This record gives sequence, structure tokens and C-alpha cells, in this order.
Amino acid sequence: MIEANEEEALGVIANEVKVCQKCRLGKTRTQAVPGVGDPEAEVLFVGEAPGYQEDQKGIPFCGPAGKFLDEMLASVSLDRDKVFIANVIKCRPPENRDPEDDEKNACWPYLQKQIEIINPKLIVCLGRHSMMRLIPGQASISKIHGKPLRRPDGRVYLPLYHPSAALHNGSLRPVQLEDFSKIPSIIEKIQKSDQITPTSQESVPTAEVKINQEGKDKIIKQKLL
Ligand code: SF4
Ligand code: URA
Repeated sequence: MIEANEEEALGVIANEVKVCQKCRLGKTRTQAVPGVGDPEAEVLFVGEAPGYQEDQKGIPFCGPAGKFLDEMLASVSLDRDKVFIANVIKCRPPENRDPEDDEKNACWPYLQKQIEIINPKLIVCLGRHSMMRLIPGQASISKIHGKPLRRPDGRVYLPLYHPSAALHNGSLRPVQLEDFSKIPSIIEKIQKSDQITPTSQESVPTAEVKINQEGKDKIIKQKLL
């Protein structure tokens, strides 16, 4: 715990983000988008970067993808007030281009601090970019979407397709709703498993996950929930 009051600590970060010029996106943005929600949320949703609407309003996921995200949240009786929603990149890349590596690296400490302060039990990675930053290796999202993983930091991560994927490819919509429907039982499992202290690292079950790094398949061990 770095500061007594989570809301205040998040406010400090939001204020830094709003005037940040650590990368070139600071020059082209209209407004930075630090994130919104419950400072003590159990679930943190992390998207990629603000789009046009978000850049105009300073609020994450307030455009078409956000509408679908709200619908999925409602389908599991969650809403924006009960969770926290942020992005890996806090300023909109021009024309919604992919963020560059130096921009991602410059912005990363903000999300790291937000994670530390909110201390969520579950981090839902919305889309490939969020997954690549928050879950090591570059497993393809088509292989690991909907599968929760406990990482060495003790938190559980759930990679999901990005909400905008269903807007481009309607056949993904039921898949996304199905993945989302697992969130309440995952939270319940985390709450139960948090009451059990593993006697050693080995007592935590692991699974082999195939990841693709620069075209080469590699098998890594990931802890299972
Ligand atoms: Fe700063 Fe992040 Fe915005 Fe770059 S994208 S200017 S690092 S807040
Ligand atoms: N897409 C994202 O990844 N984040 C937003 O905030 C909006 C759209």
C-alpha cells in the first residue's frame, strides 16, 4: 500500500496523465483517458487505447465498443461503478493506429501504479495488446481467450477478445458473451482460493501453454486458477 486513500492516489495519477508529455501521443490527443471506476474494485478491465469518442470525452470505452462492454457487464450484473476500467495507453494514437513500442513503454508505469493501488483480484485483458502487455509471452488470443491464469504476482488474469472484435465480426459476439459469463464464477473461485494458503509453489497446479514468440512455438508453464 503506497497511500492510505485509494481514491486520492488514483486522482494523483489521473492528474499526471492529463498533462503527461512522456511520449508523442501527448501532442496529438484532445484529452487523456486515465480510467474510471471503483478505486477498490475487485475486477479491473484493461483495454488497448482510447478511440475517437474516448479522446473527445476523456472517458474509457464510451464509444461503440464501450456500448457492447456495458452490455456484457450488465449480462453478469456488473456495471461501471463496481469495476475499474482503464487502458494500456492513456492517449489516442492518431487515426487509431497501433501504439508504438516506445509509447507503450512510456505509458506502462501509469497502469502499473493503478494496479498497485486498486489491488484487483482479477484483471480482464480486453484484446491482444492488453494481453501482450499484462500476460508474458505472446500466446494468440484465439487460443487463450476465456481461460483464467494466476500469475506470479498472485493476481488472476483473464484474456478476452476486444469488445470491438464483435463489431467487426458478428460471429464472435456469442463467444464474447460466453467468456464474459465466466467472470462471476472466476471471482468466486478466487475468493475461495484466497482463503487457502498453498504450502509451497509446487502445490499450485500448472498447465502447459503453447505460446508463439517471433514465429517460434514455445511451451511455458502457467499456473492455473
Ligand atoms: Fe503520457 Fe501515456 Fe499519454 Fe504518452 S500515452 S503522453 S505516456 S499519458
Ligand atoms: N477501445 C479501447 O481499447 N479502449 C477504449 O477506451 C475504447 C476503445
